[in-house]
Amino acid sequence: MRHGDLLGMGNTANVYQWGNTEAIKIFHDQERSRYEASKEAKNAEIINNLNLRAPRFCGTLEYEGKQCLLYERINGPTMLMQIAPTISSISYYAKQLAQLQVEIHQVKVGIQPNLKTELSSKILSQEIISEGEKQVIKEILEHLPESNTLCHYDFHPGNIILSSEGPIIIDWLNALVGHETADVARTSMMLQSNTLPPNAPEILTRRELRELFHEEYVKEYVMLTGKEYEEITNWTAPTLAYRIGEMNGSNQIEVLAKLRMVLKR
Ligand SMILES: Nc1ncnc2c1ncn2[C@@H]1O[C@H](COP(=O)(O)OP(=O)(O)O)[C@@H](O)[C@H]1O
Ligand SMILES: [Mg+2]
Repeated sequence: MRHGDLLGMGNTANVYQWGNTEAIKIFHDQERSRYEASKEAKNAEIINNLNLRAPRFCGTLEYEGKQCLLYERINGPTMLMQIAPTISSISYYAKQLAQLQVEIHQVKVGIQPNLKTELSSKILSQEIISEGEKQVIKEILEHLPESNTLCHYDFHPGNIILSSEGPIIIDWLNALVGHETADVARTSMMLQSNTLPPNAPEILTRRELRELFHEEYVKEYVMLTGKEYEEITNWTAPTLAYRIGEMNGSNQIEVLAKLRMVLKR
């Protein structure tokens, strides 16, 4: 069987039509596809059983020499492509993003929290971060709260498909179990990032619109949960340090510079 039309392009994979009702996720990198597919499959199995707004996971498949994932196909644009460059549209979707995340955070998982340990081990393995900086970040992490909340950890408008049956959350590759404020700090960091996806719409390329989206998102989250803004920003340093491990070249240098600014405060 051959894949059909391209449904979407992400940083790690392209997704194509597969038969009449499914979608196939093909990772860009052949070497990493095996590791990434098995990690995502493990998460997808767990997500399947949690009754979330997520596409049904249909299994893995060896295709074009890569390990691929099959999902229920969701028809509709991503939230990212649907946000119009107007104040009302930005405000509407920013609030929806926060509401969906709060909904996910209602899910508590009966497994050992792994968010802090994942962050810690990735941060400690980054050669570009100095030993002194690592110690400071480790100390910060140790004092941050722990919980068994389901965290998507890649929660942004490009990972939400607006289907006729409501919003569906995709791309659970990075899901972790930990404190919900860590997940919000991660989304906040991604929304403020200057690293844009290919074919970025106006809402991302115009900085003032991106900032407005971010402000509206955080405001809604704080309003819905009654949390303090600082509970989110307390995660900024470890969140940026972890991000360094996902970046390379000038993007990585930019995140490192941001991290150093935060650590100086
Ligand atoms: N189940 C699906 N049905 C329809 N389109 C999908 C599905 N999963 C992903 N896509 C499309 O493919 C894009 C990339 O998929 P995603 O899983 O987010 O990959 P990446 O990990 O590279 O970000 C999405 O933004 C979306 O447009
Ligand atoms: Mg994605």
